[in-house]
Amino acid sequence: MPEPRGLLAGQVALVTGAASGIGAATAALFAAEGAVVRRADLPGAGEIALDVTDAAAWDAAFDRIGREDGGLDILVNAAGIASAGAGDAAAIETVSLDNWRRVFAVNVEGTLLGCQAMLRHMAHARPGAIVNIASSAAAAPSPALGAYGASKAAVAQLTKSVAAAAALSGLPLRCNCVMPGMAETPMTAGMPPAYRQAWIEQIPEGRFAEPAEIAQTILFLASGMSSYVNGAALPVDGGLLSRPIVGLRRDDQAG
Ligand SMILES: NC(=O)c1ccc[n+]([C@@H]2O[C@H](COP(=O)([O-])OP(=O)(O)OC[C@H]3O[C@@H](n4cnc5c(N)ncnc54)[C@H](O)[C@@H]3O)[C@@H](O)[C@H]2O)c1
Repeated sequence: MPEPRGLLAGQVALVTGAASGIGAATAALFAAEGAVVRRADLPGAGEIALDVTDAAAWDAAFDRIGREDGGLDILVNAAGIASAGAGDAAAIETVSLDNWRRVFAVNVEGTLLGCQAMLRHMAHARPGAIVNIASSAAAAPSPALGAYGASKAAVAQLTKSVAAAAALSGLPLRCNCVMPGMAETPMTAGMPPAYRQAWIEQIPEGRFAEPAEIAQTILFLASGMSSYVNGAALPVDGGLLSRPIVGLRRDDQAG
C-alpha cells in the first residue's frame, strides 16, 4: 500500500458501517491521510450510533458533527448487508419480501438518507464528496443473493442522481461509488469453501481483495485526486467484471 500523503488533511469525514470490514479500513486510511474521522455504525458498535435506516439519526449525526467539527466534507456510505437472513433464504427464487425489504432498507434507503443529509447540510462554499458502496453484483447477476444485486444496482443509479442533483443546485459536491468484487470481510467470511473457491476461479486476479485495497479506491474518489470524476461507478474487483467468458487463465488455454 502507498505511504500516507496527507491527502485529506483538514477534512472531516463520516464513515458508516465503520465498525467492520471495508468501512473500518476506510476510516483507518482516512485518519492516516489526515482527516478527522467520525466512525458510525449500529448503536453499540460505532463511535456515533447511526442506524442508517433511521432518518432522525442522520440529522442528529450531522448536527453533532456540525457542532463538534464545524461541518462535514466527506461521507462514505459503507454500511450494508448481503441478506437479512442466512443462506438459501436470500436466493432469488425464494427470497421473502421481508428479507428483500430489509436489504433495500439498509443498502438503498440508508444510502439515500445519507446523501439527502449531505445535500441538506453541506455549505455551498465548502466542496464535498460522497462515496457510496455498490458492488460488482450491481452489474452481474446474483441469483444466490436476490435482493443484494438489485439493491446495489439501485445504489449505483442513485449515485448518479445525487451527482446530478448537486450540480443542478450549484453545490460543489461530487458523488461517486465503488463496485467492489469480493473482499475479505466478515460479510464473506462464512462462505462455504467450495462456493468461495468457485468465486476465486472467476476472478482474474485469483483472490479476494483486502479491505484496504477497496479503501484506497474510496480514498481516490473522496479526495482531490478525483476532482473531475463525478457520478461514476468504479469497479474494484480484480477484473471480475472484465473476465473473458471462456479461458480465465492462459494455463487453461494451453494444451
Ligand atoms: N465484502 C465484500 O466482498 C463486498 C463486496 C461488494 C460490496 N460490499 C459492500 O461493502 C460495504 C461494506 O461491507 P463489508 O464487507 O465491510 O461488510 P461488514 O459486514 O464487514 O460490515 C458492514 C457494517 O455495516 C454495519 N451495518 C449493517 N447494518 C447497518 C445499519 N442499518 N446501520 C448502520 N450500520 C449498519 C454493520 O454493523 C457492519 O459494521 C457493504 O455495503 C457491502 O455491501 C462488500
